[in-house]
Amino acid sequence: MTTAPLWGWDEIVAGAGGTADGGAPQGAIAGLSLDSRGIAAGEVFVALKDQRDGHEFVTVAFERGASAALVRQDYARRAGDGPLIRVGETLEGLCGIARAARARLRDDAGVVAVTGSVGKTSTKEMLRACLMRLGPTHAPEKSFNNHWGVPLTLARMPASTCFGVLEIGMNHAGEITLLSKLSRPHVAIITTVEPVHIEHFSSIEGIADAKAEIIAGIEPGGVVVLNRDNPLFERLAAAARAAGIDVVSFGEHAQANVRLVKCDLKTDHTDIEAECGNGRIVYSIAAPGRHMAQNSAAVIAAIEALGQDFESTIHAIGALATFGAPTGRGAREKISRGGGTILLVDESYNANPASMRAALAALALVPRMEYARRIAVLGDMLELGEASRDLHAGLSEAIANAGIDLVFAAGPHMKSLYDRVDPLRRGLWAETSAGLKDALSGAVMAGDAVMVKGSFGSRMGPLVEALRAGASGVVHS
Ligand SMILES: Nc1ncnc2c1ncn2[C@@H]1O[C@H](COP(=O)(O)OP(=O)(O)OP(=O)(O)O)[C@@H](O)[C@H]1O
Ligand SMILES: [Mg+2]
Repeated sequence: MTTAPLWGWDEIVAGAGGTADGGAPQGAIAGLSLDSRGIAAGEVFVALKDQRDGHEFVTVAFERGASAALVRQDYARRAGDGPLIRVGETLEGLCGIARAARARLRDDAGVVAVTGSVGKTSTKEMLRACLMRLGPTHAPEKSFNNHWGVPLTLARMPASTCFGVLEIGMNHAGEITLLSKLSRPHVAIITTVEPVHIEHFSSIEGIADAKAEIIAGIEPGGVVVLNRDNPLFERLAAAARAAGIDVVSFGEHAQANVRLVKCDLKTDHTDIEAECGNGRIVYSIAAPGRHMAQNSAAVIAAIEALGQDFESTIHAIGALATFGAPTGRGAREKISRGGGTILLVDESYNANPASMRAALAALALVPRMEYARRIAVLGDMLELGEASRDLHAGLSEAIANAGIDLVFAAGPHMKSLYDRVDPLRRGLWAETSAGLKDALSGAVMAGDAVMVKGSFGSRMGPLVEALRAGASGVVHS
């Protein structure tokens, strides 16, 4: 099967608002890449300025098979360079291509943008899995949700896409407006509003208002999907009403439009019944935890808001029966050690008070009959500003409620939590995650359920690796 080229040469040059230098590429344009190391043959290399200036790597990108490069006007062509698209600023050029990609979608295509304090990637991956059942779906790699991740995702979107899914994140007020206007979603989801990245905001209301910026880019007649259980719901709904955008809500709240009426939380999946606009949907989701059930309700709301009928919505949601939590965001594996099994829960990708509570609650669902001991390995939650100490210490109740038997903690912020843990349940505190490695490996044994979580910068991932390395194998169930 031959796939259509992603872009024609004239089309991409016009989209970028640039001028062509060097004639059309010989082969088809297969994609776009920001990283010369990972570039695939036929892709356009976009020379962005980030930690390094991408212009240093243009020639290397051509050596590796780039079909063309998007460069600044003043870039001096070097030997070995192929076709160039010259623009004022490369990020602007990329945004131009993104706008063109969005504009060329068919009229009946649907675009969903996901923002929120937590659960964006999880919800985005659920949408991808579900919408794929209904038509060609395009969604970002990883967590591509920032000033370059969103335009790159759009620029990579094939013209034949039926469903586009975007993740939109932010650290500061104002960021989401730009990215939402670029994406022009028909449906936007705000998963929830929590004290995350709070060091850049004076209040939780400020965070809610920044999330509400997503409304600014919604297409006329579009819908915003809001969490009815979140205390900031009314504030967000008022912002939508002021902009003339319809609200569809989800959650356990009696007035939620998509209401979770039953959530049977099991160790490795959840059985759910949701009452929605068109009737009741009974489904299950292979990613455990109430938070994942909440995300799935947002997904149902979005699919209905895209205009899908009841049958199609049920068919799409059926995909969640095999949806496991993404890597680093609750992905579970069973590893064998000492003649028994350890359940390893990898939550090492990020952490904030909301997702810590969600992860601890999910660990509490693991039956003692299967795994007698629950171990939490926790790294600092970053970017919490002045409230950091209290927000860390405030997790002690969640730890007790989840019946955690042993706590390992790393980092200066986690110290305030560790000091509040029952002394009988203390494993070890260390300044850095590396300082926990030996003690943790020595302590973990067959029959343990171990959950490792911290902000990415707290480097908890290597502890997951160390536990895996100490195993005698992976158990396939
Ligand atoms: N609705 C939710 N409520 C609380 N925690 C959640 C929710 N959904 C996912 N999580 C947990 O939050 C963590 C981050 O999840 P995810 O990567 O989906 O969020 P994100 O918003 O994309 O984060 P980032 O801002 O890093 O892109 C994971 O540990 C995940 O299990
Ligand atoms: Mg993400």
